[in-house]
Amino acid sequence: MKPAVLVTKRIFPEAVELLRRHAEVDYVDSDDGLSPEELEARSRGKQGIVSQLTDKFTAERIERLEGVRVIANVAVGFDNVDLAAATRQGILVTNTPDVLTDTTADLTFALLLAAARRIVEAHRFVHSGKWRRWTIDLLAGRDVHHKTLGIFGMGRIGQAVARRAAGFSMRVLYHDARRAPEALERELSLEFTDKLGLLRESDFVTLHVPLNDSTRKLIGAAELREMKPSAILVNTSRGPVIDEAALAQALADRVIAAAGLDVFESEPHVHPLLLELENVVLAPHIGSASIDTRRKMSLLAAENALAALAGRRPPNLLNPEAISQ
Ligand code: DGY
Repeated sequence: MKPAVLVTKRIFPEAVELLRRHAEVDYVDSDDGLSPEELEARSRGKQGIVSQLTDKFTAERIERLEGVRVIANVAVGFDNVDLAAATRQGILVTNTPDVLTDTTADLTFALLLAAARRIVEAHRFVHSGKWRRWTIDLLAGRDVHHKTLGIFGMGRIGQAVARRAAGFSMRVLYHDARRAPEALERELSLEFTDKLGLLRESDFVTLHVPLNDSTRKLIGAAELREMKPSAILVNTSRGPVIDEAALAQALADRVIAAAGLDVFESEPHVHPLLLELENVVLAPHIGSASIDTRRKMSLLAAENALAALAGRRPPNLLNPEAISQ
C-alpha cells in the first residue's frame, strides 16, 4: 500500500507529481495554508507531511501526530518545527539546504546595494515625475566597494555572501559560534572577530544565522548603538533575529543609516514605523524566491519525504537521532 502524504500548501507541480507516483497525496492546492486545527485534522492518517515555514509544529502538536514518520519542510530554516519534540516522537525532519544558497546570497546583495545606493527611493522619485534636473548630490548614497562587510553566521549562505563581497573588493569580517576552518578563512579572506568588533568596524552588517534561543534578538537597541551611524544592516535570515521595534526606532533616529530587510518578526506583519521610513528597503521574505530555486526546493522536500517513507535515510535529515527512537 502506498503511504499517505499531506502537502500543506501549494508547491511546484513537478514535486506533487513526484509524490503522486509513490504516495497517496492529500494536496492543499492553495496559498492560504491550513489553520492549526486544520493542519492537525488533515495530518491524521498520514505518514508524511510536506510542510512550509508558515506551518507551526509546536511540541504539543507534534505529540498528537500519530503515525507520522516524516516532516519535510520546504525551506532551509526549520524554526517552525520543534525538532526535539519530533525526535522524541521518532519523526524525521528534513529541510532544503544548498539549492537556495546562491539565490539567497544574491538577494542579500540586492538588498545591500539597494539600501546603499537608494534604488527604491530613486525608482519612486522617477516614477512619481519628480525628476526635473541633474544635481551634484541627487539621491547620493554610499559606496559598497572597498568597504567592510560584517557577516554574522559563516554557514553556506554566509560563505556565498562573502564570495560576492570579494567581487566588490570588500574586507570581510565574520562572527560565528564556531570559527571556520583556516583553509576557508584563507580562501575567502575572512577575518574572524567578536560580536562587538564586527558591529563597530563594519560598514555593512548582514545576518545569516539560524533562528534559535541563542540568536533570537541578536541585534537589539544596544547592538544598533554599537554600529557606525553610516552603517547598513541587512537581514535575509529570520525576522526575530532582530528586535524589529528597536531597529525601526534606530532607523528613524538615524542611529544607523539604512537597512534592507527580507524577513520580519511576525510575518506578514511589518512594524508600522518601518513602512513610513525612506531609509529601509523591504521585501516579503523572497530570499530564495527564484523560479528555479523554489522548484528545486519543492522537489527536494518531496524527495526527502519519499526517502523517509521508503525506509531510506533522507538526504537532508536534521535529526538522525530520531531513527533509533
Ligand atoms: C528558507 O528556506 O528558510 C527561506 O527562508 C524560505 O525560502
